Amino acid sequence: MKSRAVVFFSRSGRTKAVAEGIARELEAHLEEIRLKKVKNRIPTPGMLMKQSKRGELPAIHDDFPDLGKCDEVILGGPTWGFSIAPPVLSFVERVNWSGKKVHIFVTEAIFGGQFALRYLRKVLEKKGAQIGKEKVFPTLLRSLKALQLHGREWAKALKE
Ligand SMILES: Cc1cc2nc3c(=O)[nH]c(=O)nc-3n(C[C@H](O)[C@H](O)[C@H](O)COP(=O)(O)O)c2cc1C
Repeated sequence: MKSRAVVFFSRSGRTKAVAEGIARELEAHLEEIRLKKVKNRIPTPGMLMKQSKRGELPAIHDDFPDLGKCDEVILGGPTWGFSIAPPVLSFVERVNWSGKKVHIFVTEAIFGGQFALRYLRKVLEKKGAQIGKEKVFPTLLRSLKALQLHGREWAKALKE
């Protein structure tokens, strides 16, 4: 059996629900990208978006397991302002992606997920990752349970 890790960032739990469904289906390790506090507070999305416009990435905790041992990584995050949420890019910066097989997914409320996915793919490819499957999960008006099931359903295709 392949060893896989599902790595995600989630601010309000929707991407987390999708990631949980994927990890359960694949019996994969589940790892959350966590923001570091700044002046004793988790930065707001507004602060992170401003920072990102200045070309800076947010600080995240980097106590991740060694992904070098995984055959595949499934990486996902929410769409923010028609792009991928910056904490996901902070994570991308910390890993050696050379030759690594990566499936990517994003969540969106209504629109912009395809742009987020495209940007994430581009950044990972530049770092030598080999991109597998891709998916946008709309989350508006969907329960966490439904999102978990959508994640599970997509993960079946990753086993092929
Ligand atoms: C700062 C910010 C920007 C967002 N921008 C978009 C967007 O451009 N398009 C969209 O469809 N949803 C957008 N959303 C909604 C989230 O992508 C969506 O609700 C997502 O599923 C939330 O995931 P989470 O619960 O894992 O944080 C935005 C949310 C935030 C907080």
